[in-house]
Amino acid sequence: MKVRKAVIPAAGLGTRFLPATKAQPKVMLPVIDIPAIQLVVEEAARGGIEDVLIVTGRGQRAIEDHFDRNLELERFLEDKAKFDELKRIRQISDMAEVHYIRQKEALGLGHAISVAQAHVGDEPFAVMLGDDLIHPSEPLLGQMLRSHDTFGRSVIAAMEVSKQDISLYGCIQAEPFEEHLVRILSIIEKPSPEEAPSNLAVIGRYVFTPEIFDALRRTTPGRAGEIQLTDAINLLAQEQAVYAYRFEGRRFDVGNPLDYLKATVELGAERDDLGPEFRAWLAQFVQREKLV
Ligand code: UTP
Repeated sequence: MKVRKAVIPAAGLGTRFLPATKAQPKVMLPVIDIPAIQLVVEEAARGGIEDVLIVTGRGQRAIEDHFDRNLELERFLEDKAKFDELKRIRQISDMAEVHYIRQKEALGLGHAISVAQAHVGDEPFAVMLGDDLIHPSEPLLGQMLRSHDTFGRSVIAAMEVSKQDISLYGCIQAEPFEEHLVRILSIIEKPSPEEAPSNLAVIGRYVFTPEIFDALRRTTPGRAGEIQLTDAINLLAQEQAVYAYRFEGRRFDVGNPLDYLKATVELGAERDDLGPEFRAWLAQFVQREKLV
């Protein structure tokens, strides 16, 4: 069955990015001049997804306003003949059918996904974390959707990370399956480097069969008292095959200030409008600071 819907959980508190996230949603932080969540919705649209459900929390109206029309601004840009800006603004509200649901309390990523059930229904769907950016040139979601089409099972994205960093992620124990796919035997959330069964980490792109909702219902609060998506995937993997797609491309966790900085520099250096001048400045900066 074709995947038509994506869920973007965006209701976390963003404590790693305080104070910027005190009064604004983390996913609205701009990567240069585009909010992170817009880049994720653009990625969904490129993957052929037509329907996006964003799970929001309190104080996150800015997300809804961003994907809505802004008629006053449109009129202003039209009057000033700023047609390029006008086109960019209008495109945002036309990218996909965007819906919203509130997670009333930040009870964990697993809980955020479970509130999406009524909207998703009994069909496979994608989950895309709003603060996890995959470089726009990487067709990761499309590859995952193709693997789901072929095998009819859940496929989650994974990346090799250093042994030290594995304690920041869900960690996968798996057996080989196909060129880019492994079959998951178990997953544990944020293990210490000593207890980690591998250095294969879950990253923020998933394609799920609807049985994940049943697994989430049976998941009790785990680490940090939250309903962990990792625990539900672990349950699901004991009942039906769940695959991990080994991703080797560029990805940024923009919920973390250091990765956010890296994303801004890399994506800025690649931009046609800003790149040439920015690269020249960057080269001078590296020389002046004797960074190499
Ligand atoms: P994170 O742990 O990265 O987000 O959750 P956080 O809790 O907002 O960030 P820190 O660690 O405090 O800085 C992964 C994703 O799950 C969403 C977050 O918005 C993020 O996209 N999430 C997390 C929810 O939607 N609800 C929750 O209760 C928890």
